[in-house]
Amino acid sequence: MNNNQTPLIEVQSISKYFGNVIALEDISLRVGAGEVMCLLGDNGAGKSTLIKVLSGVHQHDKGHMLVEGKEVHFTSPRDALEHGIATVYQDLAMIPLMSVSRNFFLGSEPTTGWGPFRRFDVELADRVTRQELSKMGIEIRDTAQAVGTLSGGERQSVAIARAIYFGAKVLILDEPTSALGVKEASVVLRYIAQARARGIGVIFITHNVHHAYPIGDYFTILNRGRSYGTFAKADVTREEVVAMMAGGEELQELSHELEEFARSDKALAGKLTEMGHELEDAAQPAVTSPKHDE
Ligand SMILES: Nc1ncnc2c1ncn2[C@@H]1O[C@H](COP(=O)(O)OP(=O)(O)OP(=O)(O)O)[C@@H](O)[C@H]1O
Ligand SMILES: [Mg+2]
Repeated sequence: MNNNQTPLIEVQSISKYFGNVIALEDISLRVGAGEVMCLLGDNGAGKSTLIKVLSGVHQHDKGHMLVEGKEVHFTSPRDALEHGIATVYQDLAMIPLMSVSRNFFLGSEPTTGWGPFRRFDVELADRVTRQELSKMGIEIRDTAQAVGTLSGGERQSVAIARAIYFGAKVLILDEPTSALGVKEASVVLRYIAQARARGIGVIFITHNVHHAYPIGDYFTILNRGRSYGTFAKADVTREEVVAMMAGGEELQELSHELEEFARSDKALAGKLTEMGHELEDAAQPAVTSPKHDE
């Protein structure tokens, strides 16, 4: 990121252990306003663990975490939220049977009336929901529509709009596009771009390079709990990202193995043809002289 700017969030040499499992070792990263940082890595690389540290679910064992330049120690997700760090998990914590606007305000319902007449302010909720969604370029036909009837991409978009409305400065998205089709994924990617344009720092976790590359400003690649470092888009190609994610040596090993397979396939094919010939040869006398065996 731009070095003159204080990052919205920064971790310095963070480590996290689960018993003797090293989930994260010596990870550093920083995200500034209006930047999209893609956190990439294969299964088990430590992506979820890292965002759980950032969002107050786990506490780090070593290193420092800073929000806008000040060291923080989160003990709960609420701490992180109060510092403007919102996380949208893949399962989204939405209630499918409730309306879009109800879900938008879930946990922070606006009310109207007083005493025993207090009730959920449907009008206000509908208006704000519609307004906030349209700021993100999302037009929902009916905010009274049940969330369960929205497509996966629309649901993600509602969750993103909600986090921004409630004051997120940093938006962490854990695999928001992994369950989506190409078109839906591109919708979500567009909202990520919108969030960036509004000055939010976005941490986008994915193991799909094709989703990450077009949208990312920076890429941090994790491999078995360690970081290969952070790369600005100008300094790294899509292919290099893929190679690092898989672990360079492993890809090489794989291509060696595939060559081996190809070689043994060829040998096998050769053997099979040979066998075929032999069988044909063996069958021939039987055809030409059927009485041979009798
Ligand atoms: N609560 C836990 N207790 C013990 N080990 C854990 C715990 N959470 C994660 N781990 C281990 O830490 C490592 C990193 O896991 P993590 O879930 O962060 O990976 P990930 O990059 O999110 O993978 P995926 O792409 O599969 O979601 C793994 O080896 C995992 O088994
Ligand atoms: Mg994960």
